[in-house]
Amino acid sequence: MNDKIVLTGIKPTGTPHIGNYIGALKPLIDLSQNHKTVMFIADLHALNSIHDAKAIKQHTYEIAALMIAMGLNLENTIFFRQSDIDAVYQLSEFLMNVTPKGLMNRAHSYKAMIEKNTESGIDIDSGVNMGLYTYPVLMAADILLYNSDVVPVGKDQKQHVEFARDIAGYFNNIYGETFKLPEPVIGEDSGYIPGLDGRKMSKSYDNTIPLLCPTAELKKKIMRIITDSKTPEESKNPDESTIFQLYKFFANTDEISTFRKRFLDGGMGYGEAKTILFEKMDSVLKPHREKYEHLMANTSEIDTVLNTGAERARVVAKKVITKVKKKMLGL
Ligand code: TRP
Repeated sequence: MNDKIVLTGIKPTGTPHIGNYIGALKPLIDLSQNHKTVMFIADLHALNSIHDAKAIKQHTYEIAALMIAMGLNLENTIFFRQSDIDAVYQLSEFLMNVTPKGLMNRAHSYKAMIEKNTESGIDIDSGVNMGLYTYPVLMAADILLYNSDVVPVGKDQKQHVEFARDIAGYFNNIYGETFKLPEPVIGEDSGYIPGLDGRKMSKSYDNTIPLLCPTAELKKKIMRIITDSKTPEESKNPDESTIFQLYKFFANTDEISTFRKRFLDGGMGYGEAKTILFEKMDSVLKPHREKYEHLMANTSEIDTVLNTGAERARVVAKKVITKVKKKMLGL
């Protein structure tokens, strides 16, 4: 896969937490070490659900700063803000004209909305704006604008990548070979990442731990992890403990087996276990957190990185949009 162009977008809808990092962001940072990568913050895709410019801007900075602080390879990666590239709005509009409405009707997220509305007995399109309905077209524009070969995404986005292939196919059929058909790659499951209450870590359960929050906040969150009521002396099952599960993502093999043994042997209370988890995470994250805090206090440095990325992205995008205009309009 080394000579292939890997492309992906990250939607700025919240402060990135440990679940986001382990499940989605870290695999992308790893890929960037030895692949040509096109990566953008998909702020346009946030617009259908977030009508708050300040929030989108803030989350965009947070994700960008996190990616940089955690070691995204900026030489291999064209890293930018989706909205900085005018050609993507243009391509999206062009692609509308070869995209069947019926395809959009089959999109999972749209279908989920209308099913929910139907169950509640309200108008089926209630709360559905055109940004949501045409979301897959904009995403196809993202994917096709930068000649990508491979699009690593979560399971929930697989259909969107398939739609991008379909739309590219419709276009190529009408106007002749123009777009490469990209392949979706569904990331390996990074395992269950539990949140504070033991359920899957997710913004919608309000049980998240931000990845790079200040030390005091990290400590407070970890101390809030819900446990059972075993006494310190009792033996505990590490595989059922949120504390142990989270520790595994930050410690090395020896540390993990020592910690596991302490759970099983008994004699370690949950308070102590939480302190061990906190100290491990805090020391692993400290250097990254310093870089992150520096960037968040100096957002012009983030802008510089993203603007440089946008310039590189525009060079590629311009060629594609010129080709499309010529084919569609003869211009
Ligand atoms: N829709 C994706 C998500 O919600 C984000 C995204 C936007 C994306 N454009 C993309 C992902 C292009 C891959 C390729 O996660």
